[in-house]
Formats: sequence, structure tokens, C-alpha cells
Amino acid sequence: MSAQFAAPTDAAIPIDVIASDQFETFEQQAAPETVAWAKANGFTGKLGQVLCVPSGSGISRALVGWGTEKTRTRDRLHFGYAAVKLPEGVYAIASGLEDDALNEAALAWLLSGYVFDRYKKKSAPKARLVAPQGVDAARIEAIVAGDFLTRDLINIPASDMGPEALEAAFLKVAQEHGATAQAICGDDLLAQNFPMVHAVGRASDQAPRLLDMVWGDDTAPKITLVGKGVCFDTGGLNIKPGASMGLMKKDMGGAATVLGLAHMIMTLGIRVRLRVIVPAVENSISAGAFRPQDVLTSRKGLTVEINNTDAEGRLVLADALALADEETPDLLVCKATLTGAARVALGPDVMPYYTDDDTLAAEIATAGAAVADPLWRMPFWEAYEGMIEPDVADLDNAPAGGFAGSITAALFLRRFVENTANFVHLDIYGWTPSAKPGRTKGGACMSARAMLEVIEARAAK
Ligand code: BES
Ligand code: MN
Ligand code: ZN
Repeated sequence: MSAQFAAPTDAAIPIDVIASDQFETFEQQAAPETVAWAKANGFTGKLGQVLCVPSGSGISRALVGWGTEKTRTRDRLHFGYAAVKLPEGVYAIASGLEDDALNEAALAWLLSGYVFDRYKKKSAPKARLVAPQGVDAARIEAIVAGDFLTRDLINIPASDMGPEALEAAFLKVAQEHGATAQAICGDDLLAQNFPMVHAVGRASDQAPRLLDMVWGDDTAPKITLVGKGVCFDTGGLNIKPGASMGLMKKDMGGAATVLGLAHMIMTLGIRVRLRVIVPAVENSISAGAFRPQDVLTSRKGLTVEINNTDAEGRLVLADALALADEETPDLLVCKATLTGAARVALGPDVMPYYTDDDTLAAEIATAGAAVADPLWRMPFWEAYEGMIEPDVADLDNAPAGGFAGSITAALFLRRFVENTANFVHLDIYGWTPSAKPGRTKGGACMSARAMLEVIEARAAK
């Protein structure tokens, strides 16, 4: 797989990007045999059409259909079509795209080059793109490398990506960038007061752990990323039905995504003091498993009644967020494959985010739209606080009834963030159900590009 652009060359095959309403102009301006070839092949500029124009010795140019404003804005990253449909060769965009569209096209192309071939030989798309003029190639490459890292970590099944392997992956990223990192493991979690990370993870053969890395300049804005690292979620004693358990290798998608984002931030050398915290556990079943109606005392001291062992993500995150909050970072970002309810509400493509800060919310919305990373704000709905307050403890991990499941999970997390003004939680999916341009089927790096924009802009202030 290539996460990189091809070296510039005069021999690159030119690509003309042609929107439906530009086809007439193309007809008037292009060489008659090119127009005839396009027509003979039914090329009209429809979105997703890709056509190579032959020359005596090979391909003289490639035409890429760009559709209409309506089809183009319905989804994004359409240039990914070209990357996967064009045959082997080095290409360069010659006409039809400018500025932001050109930038997005270059990104979409590289994002389409991912293949997960760890367990099976597969051929990657062979077409390569020369970075278009005016596009920050190194930046796009850093973003794509982070994105691919996330996809890999999610795609690797729990048999090879348990808490131990996730720790190794975490430490590897830290080491690559000269970050300091540590892992608190097993009973040390009790000694160092991470009781809920321990409780959730203790039934697994692989001990639970709390991973923590710090990078960058101490005097720079403190940005902390927290990611849910449930390497497999059986549901625990409240075992999931088969169909719901089927995808649960991806339940460390939050951890994978914050690692991908951290990789982007550190590669780009953004001036921040970055901290990444990942509770890495397996929500497993054995005699030692935590049970429904257990009451856990969290790091923060709040007690939690367990009403469903399948609502485990918020438990491990609660201790991680409490730790993060102890040093009052300037921005605290939590990413987690936290609820099925988020998917019921918004489906697999749009990620809900929660924050009390309207300025931050607007920055995130703008960034998401700018970089084709779909996000939608949802409310920390105060009136639902009562739903997470049971009789016997401070908090209930799984309110009966299940109304507003993504919101009540978010409210639960917020209880553990007291000092940090800028807190955002993203209830991500981490998975692409069926391939789309720029997005292969399987593990997905959602919300990282948007948050990178936000963090970069805040660092520059
Ligand atoms: N990891 C799941 C959430 C999930 C399920 C994400 C499916 C994506 C797809 C989480 O740990 C979970 O099981 N949540 C429960 C909470 C409930 C028991 C309160 C859920 O959403 O059903
Ligand atoms: Mn669960
Ligand atoms: Zn889970």
C-alpha cells in the first residue's frame, strides 16, 4: 500500500476532471479523437466515471467524471474512484480542480490506497498520483499515515490485538516520535487507583492496562486525547448476542483513532504538549468477571452501580478521563466506540460529538465540513441527568429503558471531567460497512482529520 505521492515526472499521465455541465466545453476544446473516444464509451462526466484515452503506446490521458454539485456534495472524497479504477501508472491532475477541491482530491486518492493484507495476499491499487501544485504533500501524507495506522489497528482481530498488542502498538508510536510513555498493568491499576479499568479488564487472560504518553513542549497548549481501548467486547456477563458481538474487535477504535491522530500531530510537529491516554482491556467472561449490581468506586471517588456489564466503555473511560482532568488540560478530547445508540441516531457515517463549549463546537463543525470528516453536535441534555442516577450509588452505568443511549453515555463521562473547560467526547463508529471512495471496508479513522484541524488552529493561537 502506498500512503505517498509519486515523485514529480514529466511523463505523468494527465487527468482531466470533467463535471457533467462541463462536458460541452470539453467537447469543444479537446482533440476530436479524444471526444469521439469519450462518447463511444458513454463518458458524460457523471460522478464516478473513469476513462483512459488510448494512445499508440499506452494511455494518453485519463478522464474523471465529476458529476453535478448535487451528487458531489452528497458525499465526499469522490476522487478516490480514480485511484482505484485507473490502471498502473503515474498520473497528474491536469485540469478541472482547484484549491480546496484539489486538496481533497489528493487526500482522497491516497486514502484509497489502503489494503489490509496481513493475513492474505492482496493487490493494492497500482495507480500513483503526483502531488498537485499548491497542495501540502507532506501534510497529506502524514494524515494518511495516521489514518492507515488506525485502520490497521482496528482491522487486526483481537487474537493479535489484545491489550498486550495494543500496548506494544502504543509504545511503538511513542518511541517513533520520542514521546515518554508508560503502562500501568494488572494489579498496579489497583495500587495506582484505576479501579474501574481493572474491574472491566480483570476477567481476561491479558491483564488490563492504562497507557499514557506525553510529547512536546511543556509550555505549549496542553492537548489530551483519551481513547476507548476495549480490544474485544463480549458484553461481559451480560453477553452480547452473536450478531452484536460480530464486530467487536473494533471496540478499541477510539484508542486506534487517538493513536492515528497523535501520529499526525507528532509527525507534523504541531506546537502542543500532547498527552494520550488509553485504557486497554478486554471485556471478557470468566469467574472473576465484574457482575450486574456490583458497585464500583471510581478513581474520582464516584460510585457506580453496574446495571449492564456491556456498558463497559464508559467505566474504563471514566478513570482515564479523571486522570486527564487532574492536570486541567487546555483541550480534552475523548473518542470511543461507546454506544449502539449513536448508530441508531446517525448511522455509520456521521459521528456525534458532545461539548458544552459553543466556540469549540463551531470549530469542530467547520473543520469536519472542511476536511470531509462528517460530525454532528448532540446535546449534553441536562434533564436526562436523572437517568444516570440510581438509588444505590452515585451513577448508573446503564440506565433502564435505553432512551437517549448516546446522550446518557456522554453525560456519564462528563461527570468525570470537572476542571477542564474544553472537553469534547466523540461517539465514533470506527468502521466502514461497505467501501466508498477513500474508505475501504473495515476499520475506519473517523473524526481524526477534523480534530487535527481544530488542534492545529488552537496551537497556532
Ligand atoms: N461497544 C459497545 C457499543 C457499540 C455497539 C458500538 C455496536 C458500535 C456498535 C458498547 O460497549 C456497548 O455495548 N454499549 C451498549 C450500552 C448499553 C448496554 C447501555 C449499547 O450501546 O448497547
Ligand atoms: Mn459493551
Ligand atoms: Zn464496548
